[in-house]
Amino acid sequence: MSKIVKVLMWIGGVIGIIVIALITYVQLAWDKKFEAPYPKIIASKDSALIARGKHLAEGPAHCISCHVPMDKVKVVENGALMPLSGGWEMTIPPGTFRAPNLTPDKETGIGTMTDGEIARTLRYSVNNKNGCVFPFMPFQELSDEDLTAIVSYLRAQEPVKHYVPRTEYSFLGKILFAFGLFKPEGPKKTPPKSVPIDSSIAYGSYLAFSVANCYGCHTNRDLKTGEFIGEPFAGGLVFVPDVFTEGASFVTPNLTPDKKTGIMANWNETMFINRMKGGRIHKGTPMPWALFARMDDVELKALYRYLRSIKPVSNKIDQIVYAPGEEMK
Ligand code: HEC
Ligand code: HEC
Repeated sequence: MSKIVKVLMWIGGVIGIIVIALITYVQLAWDKKFEAPYPKIIASKDSALIARGKHLAEGPAHCISCHVPMDKVKVVENGALMPLSGGWEMTIPPGTFRAPNLTPDKETGIGTMTDGEIARTLRYSVNNKNGCVFPFMPFQELSDEDLTAIVSYLRAQEPVKHYVPRTEYSFLGKILFAFGLFKPEGPKKTPPKSVPIDSSIAYGSYLAFSVANCYGCHTNRDLKTGEFIGEPFAGGLVFVPDVFTEGASFVTPNLTPDKKTGIMANWNETMFINRMKGGRIHKGTPMPWALFARMDDVELKALYRYLRSIKPVSNKIDQIVYAPGEEMK
């Protein structure tokens, strides 16, 4: 055997050992447990509070767009209402994520979870098994009052027996956990006890960031890590084709009041409210239009005022909708 071949074999052996060690480490270390406090949230039987929770879940906070069976996703998008029995799933590089059953069924739903466990999942992204919940949900800064309303509504639903398998991580997902690249998302500032519900800019900002996720979709993000890389509300986030978009691709428009590139710069309040109540125009769009159409005039006015008050950012989005198979610019 020549010297070169021997050296190559030696290098190959070392790489092999490193790879095996890495795989073993990831398999042993990925299933990390996290700590987070339990918010002092106690579900209530108060009918006004339950109604508020139902409105949030079926409207601005759009829990119902994900926590329903896969074959019900489209009917919900078209405006149907039903208990949150879970089942929506999405496969992305870190794994297959499944939205669990949130009805009070004891075997397959949240029947045996405490109020504190449910509230902690939403506020600190740590579930009742101390595992990390992937950042599909932007509710870390919901007010105590709204969090109570939502938990009260979940408890008040009729129990539905519907088993949803747990989320499964791919090897990539496990690597992210094993090396601590992935951690539960908590609130960035102390969540308010309650927020005044009126058509103020402050309430609009609360809705846009902490309830309706306008910020999460209308701000550009790194598609691999979810990190925000664009100016707030300046658009540019790409939705690649999947089962939900029916093969189409979307790029979110710029919602800032920039005269040239902000789509709403020339909309008055009435135009905005009518558009938001008008429902979806583009087939397959990821924006939950039918659910947002349930927002009332106070909420929509607040959102309009907030979006008009933010810094104009020049960011031209050439095309918003790409038909199936159409090449993106
Ligand atoms: C964009 C889709 C989406 C929306 C909207 C959404 N969820 Fe979820 N939810 C998920 C997914 C996916 C998971 C599973 C995440 C994981 O396994 O890491 C989840 C997990 C949960 C869990 C954790 C349960 C457990 O057993 O670990 C709770 C509680 C929950 N969601 C409540 C809600 C509530 C309440 C709302 C509305 C206020 C909501 N979700 C809105 C997708 C969504
Ligand atoms: C899940 C992602 C997502 C969320 C959440 C979301 N949007 Fe959108 N939005 C989109 C996409 C994609 C489009 C472009 C396709 C379309 O018009 O449906 C869009 C389009 C729009 C438009 C332009 C409609 C038109 O006819 O030109 C407005 C206005 C808008 N969004 C406002 C909002 C507001 C306000 C919120 C929060 C209450 C919000 N969006 C939340 C993804 C989202």
